[in-house]
Amino acid sequence: MSNRNIIRRVRGLPASDGAGVRLTRIIGQPTLDSLDPFLLLDAFGSTQGSDYIAGFPDHPHRGFETVTYMLAGRMRHRDNVGNSGLLTAGGAQWMTAGRGLIHSEMPEQSEGEMRGFQLWVNLPATHKMMAPRYQDIEPERVPVCTPVPGARLRVIAGNVLGVEGPVDGIVTKPIFIDIALDAGARLSLPVPATHTAFVYPFEGAELVLGSSSLPLGELGVLDQGDSVELSAPSGTVRMILAAAAPLREPVARWGPFVMNTEAEIRQAIADYRSGRL
Ligand code: CO
Repeated sequence: MSNRNIIRRVRGLPASDGAGVRLTRIIGQPTLDSLDPFLLLDAFGSTQGSDYIAGFPDHPHRGFETVTYMLAGRMRHRDNVGNSGLLTAGGAQWMTAGRGLIHSEMPEQSEGEMRGFQLWVNLPATHKMMAPRYQDIEPERVPVCTPVPGARLRVIAGNVLGVEGPVDGIVTKPIFIDIALDAGARLSLPVPATHTAFVYPFEGAELVLGSSSLPLGELGVLDQGDSVELSAPSGTVRMILAAAAPLREPVARWGPFVMNTEAEIRQAIADYRSGRL
């Protein structure tokens, strides 16, 4: 076993997206423009309706996947071919945009807390033009496991200590887990050795990974290795742990389109403008 260590710490930047939703952009900003195959990580969270009410009206995507994980609040998604779903606290949506779709993601509340994450995961060249696919995961479908006292894991994607997350068939073989550690708890988790991996503590106290500490609100990029050692020496901590196979392909990116070449981006824009998404 070789334990992974933190090789980089990144703090997110305040940003605004959609029609004016305030968020923190952690991956997909100048200090960390991507982390192959992860293209973007946004954390949103507010109890002020004005921070999120404008939502994300109709917009396109092509060439990658968007993963929304809700911690609080209700968000409605609708697309241009009639799909619709409601994301609620503890639920997730893994949307494979593939060759493309146009959708909206709108809060279904005007007050109260809205909180969660959106992660973008790239698709390899062979799958960028696949048919769009939704995996809407209701909160009850997310398995909870407590491998050691004081550790609670909600496994959204991947197989962790024999517990299989409900998201399946994703090319980059992702792991996406919400982990809560009580003060003093220690947890060792296997992670596929060559996967890109990061942790992001978003609630509670500092996290200790291996021998280094990671303050709340900083993303830790991990080196390679087949396990992570997590502990919460000073108080309860809750974090996202994500890992996936890197693609090592050229990335051509323009807003909501992520392809391999500039010509494919021009094609995506042309397809969008002519109503072919
Ligand atoms: Co979207």
